[in-house]
Amino acid sequence: MSARIMVLLAVALGACSEVQAPRGEPWGVRTTLAADGAWQIRWQGRASVTVDGLTTAADGVLRLPADRSSAVRVGRTAFTVWPRREDPCAPARFVVLGDGRASVDGVGPSAYWAPMLAEAVARAPLFVLNTGDLVKNGEDRAEWDRYLRTLPPWPPVLAVRGNHDRGPHFADLGMAPADVFALRAGPIALVAFDSEGTDAEVRARLPRVEAALAAAAEAPFRVVAMHRPVWSRGNHGSDDRGLVAALVPLLERHDVALVLSGHDHDYERFCPSLGLGPSRRCVAATDGVTYVVSGGAATFTVPVPGLSRRVDPAVAVADEAASRIFSAAHHMVEIEAVGGRLVGRAWRTRAGNIGPPGLLDVFEITRESSCPR
Ligand SMILES: [Fe+2]
Repeated sequence: MSARIMVLLAVALGACSEVQAPRGEPWGVRTTLAADGAWQIRWQGRASVTVDGLTTAADGVLRLPADRSSAVRVGRTAFTVWPRREDPCAPARFVVLGDGRASVDGVGPSAYWAPMLAEAVARAPLFVLNTGDLVKNGEDRAEWDRYLRTLPPWPPVLAVRGNHDRGPHFADLGMAPADVFALRAGPIALVAFDSEGTDAEVRARLPRVEAALAAAAEAPFRVVAMHRPVWSRGNHGSDDRGLVAALVPLLERHDVALVLSGHDHDYERFCPSLGLGPSRRCVAATDGVTYVVSGGAATFTVPVPGLSRRVDPAVAVADEAASRIFSAAHHMVEIEAVGGRLVGRAWRTRAGNIGPPGLLDVFEITRESSCPR
């Protein structure tokens, strides 16, 4: 099939994937994370809202505590909000999807985004993490409206901002609570930050990333999410942002277990490693930082590694030695942590692949934990 036909097909499928709300009903009902850790229910339009039997009317947003379950109804949409369970001995599970943007302007999410998100939601995670590039042209509100219509009321779909998500809408629509934000769930402390903007803007966020990691020192697993990969053999390559020399020592100072990124349209996992560039070395999974690139919800994925010409040749050699799997499969990554054991499973999704869905990759990271076995 030619690329032109595939683009037209993707546009058509993308248009068909929209879910139209009944006339007069609030639409785009979804849950987001507030900066202080509360859940926020958001929607478009004025709605009658019922929480645990109490009804009120509200315009577009309602705040809920994140430490207990709530039965919620917004218009005709009814759902249950789950508590976050910050107890480090409680199990936690979330699913990662990334780069679900269309390849052409005016569409928003790719044709695969909505069905892949449905597959992720079917796994009943506490939240879904989008590794960025939610839409193609972030300045176009119509693209965001198409994205909003794909979101479920629950679970929350949290995101880090990608380079395509430029403009005011990402923040205004509450896709992330801040340019640096943290979320605790069981043994996982997720610290997410915005890798977009000027170099000065991005570097100015690093002290807050470091403070958030320091504040989560007692959590068994510190997990960092950012759009642009530290290491990658994908199209953009390693250190696309020029941050690695500052970022890798910071990650290692705080014993970060896992870094999740997007930007490149593929799946790639590197060995747990310590060190920078050509002096990077693979170490035991108890000690190093495991880097995963997950950008597998795009219209097109890239099957060939090593295409970037901007990567230092010595770094490219180290990247090849450290890479454990590179795949162009459309996929999602399920992260599950209990006590001192974190398991990542990359799943080939039903959507986007010619072959059957199934397990693409499994990795395990362990850390000290005082939780009973
Ligand atoms: Fe990107």
